[in-house]
Amino acid sequence: MTHVPTSRVRVDRHLSEDFLATTLAADVRGGLTSTPKHLPPKWFYDERGSELFEEITRLPEYYPTRAEAEILRAHAADIAARSAADTLVELGSGSSEKTRILLDAMLAAGSLRRYVPVDVSESALIGAGEALLEDYPDLEVHAVLADFEHHLDRLPEGGRRMVAFLGGTIGNLLPSARREFLADLRRGLAPGDSLLLGTGLVTDPDVLVRAYDDAAGVTAQFNLNVLHVLRRELGATLDPDEFAHVAVWDPENQWIEMRLRARSAQRIEIPALRLSVEFAAGEEMRTEISAKFHRGRVTAELAEAGFRLDEWWSDSAGRYALSLATATGESPGPAAPDLE
Ligand code: SAH
Ligand code: TRP
Repeated sequence: MTHVPTSRVRVDRHLSEDFLATTLAADVRGGLTSTPKHLPPKWFYDERGSELFEEITRLPEYYPTRAEAEILRAHAADIAARSAADTLVELGSGSSEKTRILLDAMLAAGSLRRYVPVDVSESALIGAGEALLEDYPDLEVHAVLADFEHHLDRLPEGGRRMVAFLGGTIGNLLPSARREFLADLRRGLAPGDSLLLGTGLVTDPDVLVRAYDDAAGVTAQFNLNVLHVLRRELGATLDPDEFAHVAVWDPENQWIEMRLRARSAQRIEIPALRLSVEFAAGEEMRTEISAKFHRGRVTAELAEAGFRLDEWWSDSAGRYALSLATATGESPGPAAPDLE
């Protein structure tokens, strides 16, 4: 871990300098040589990708952000009182905008000392951190540049913690990765620590698809941005204009699937990987899933990982839910390196 002061925000860096070179390369090789092809979503979020996501949150079709803010406004005081946390850790924190509702309530309750935003996007962490330092001069902001699928054992220790995982981002993990993620998370917490989890709910497929395929085409740009990342970081010889954004509802898996469809037959070269990949005309590559839930599934998956669901709140339209859960005494085995 290095600690390079680039701004007033404290950022612990757990992504090594060659993270892009090694992890991106491995992910791209694995994904583009599979059938069907796929790419993992964390590569959407370079600086441009993080900006595009912020734009998505303001789109009329993209309701999850507003739904989550509505729930937070209604229940933040309750969440603050129940968690009694001195440290709020937030995974995939992005701009930390909605988090302010929670920070305000936790500071008013008097227990909060420290906010730990965790993200793979350094530009998002620094942007959010600078803004928070301005507006919350007494709060310790300790940002962590890390991958929540790999570095949950490196979160700052100590105190009573609440982990927030908002935005429905848990739905971007495939079911097996989701199970592993929740088990890892529980291992890093002490009994009594809490988890505040935001999940999109299964709702009208038309509403769902529009949220991921907006009229202004911002989500399309966001999806295509991953191709720009491959060009810049790996020298891939591909033309993003030769791909189209696709969003479909998969009723069996209960997830939205985002894909990029090749508009024509093409061969792309990725010199950094010494890889050459062919796309057939119309071939689709999966870039992201966004799973939607019912209360029963969330409760069961949390229980399996060693969390007890204490509260479940949904928005007035019934399309999004926030769960407040507590780490129970039973941690899922096998024991892994722990934070205590
Ligand atoms: N919590 C914010 C942002 C959600 S977008 C909100 O609710 O609006 C998802 C965020 O997770 C992005 O900021 C992205 O950079 C981050 N992210 C995606 N995959 C990640 C990973 N594997 N590890 C850490 N952060 C990740
Ligand atoms: N966590 C967000 C979600 O699943 C991420 C997201 C929103 C997203 N729109 C997207 C990911 C479009 C890829 C493409 O709602």
